[in-house]
Amino acid sequence: MKNRSNVGAAALAVLAVCLAAWTLTGCAKNSDKPRIGVAIYKFDDTFMSTVRNAISKAGEENATVEIVDSQNAQPTQNDQIDNFISRSVKALAINPVDRTAAAVIIQKAKAADVPVVFFNREPLASDMQAWDKIYYVGARAEESGTYQGQIAVDYFRGNPGADKNGDGVIQYIMIMGEPGHQDAELRTEYSVKAITDAGLRVEQLARDTAMWDRVRGQEKMSAFLAAHGERIELVLCNNDDMALGAIEALKAEGYNTGGAKYIPVIGVDATAPALEAIENGTLLGTVLNDGQNQGQAAYDIAFAVATGANPSSTGWTLDGGKYVWVPYQMVTRANYLQFK
Ligand code: GAL
Repeated sequence: MKNRSNVGAAALAVLAVCLAAWTLTGCAKNSDKPRIGVAIYKFDDTFMSTVRNAISKAGEENATVEIVDSQNAQPTQNDQIDNFISRSVKALAINPVDRTAAAVIIQKAKAADVPVVFFNREPLASDMQAWDKIYYVGARAEESGTYQGQIAVDYFRGNPGADKNGDGVIQYIMIMGEPGHQDAELRTEYSVKAITDAGLRVEQLARDTAMWDRVRGQEKMSAFLAAHGERIELVLCNNDDMALGAIEALKAEGYNTGGAKYIPVIGVDATAPALEAIENGTLLGTVLNDGQNQGQAAYDIAFAVATGANPSSTGWTLDGGKYVWVPYQMVTRANYLQFK
């Protein structure tokens, strides 16, 4: 007993010393680290969670990264930015709720001389030119749409029976993300363009927004199925969450359950559940939206400018001195395992 309590007391003493030392060095280190303020348009977004986690992991060692949830409200985000600035952040990394609000954000940042890295929601080109300490990290939305179209082209070329009514025209449904978002607008346009550029003909049966959301995707698809049923030959979705919602609606009507009733669905993002859906054959394909590298690049640029370094020293290529473009990748059954 005695021995044990002695050992216990010694261990406690060591722990206390360690804790004190750790706290001291921790404090000292924290005060040297630049503070970076990060706002995400809303935490409740599957793809943005990947980007957010990547930013927080990237900054673990060398910065104090504060990440806030703007809860899909631009006024909330504006207040959060005021708050960051008043607490002397050295850089801001902002995923705007409304990309046209970038002008106001830039005004605030410029007045306080705090550089801004926008990401995922691209400010208008004119706003990007308003100050030289503004950057954007994202991906070229056209590219993701083009890959989606190519997946469809490969499928229809390889499966002539997929043109179910044999009219030589692909009847499709488009489920869109948020109106005005560059990814929603350009994926919609370029997915169809890639199909028609390849010489295939298309007819849009219906299109609507489901705001990037799985449940809304399911609701929209149920309604489209009720209206167009067997005529639907392809479902293009601006992201995976909506595609997975659409697949739920299809399954409820006996499609995509392994039998003969099947409608190809294509998404974007390559989220973990989407890769599973490719594995089990319910999702035809998706496009990797590389949130890891987008988060890493946003952090690297923010850290560079926060510490007075040249952002080009990060190793990322800055197009026009301002834009970092992270490439998309096509994902199908042929290669999905490498993304899991
Ligand atoms: C897109 C992504 C969507 C959604 C959106 C949020 O790039 O594909 O799933 O996260 O960004 O702005």
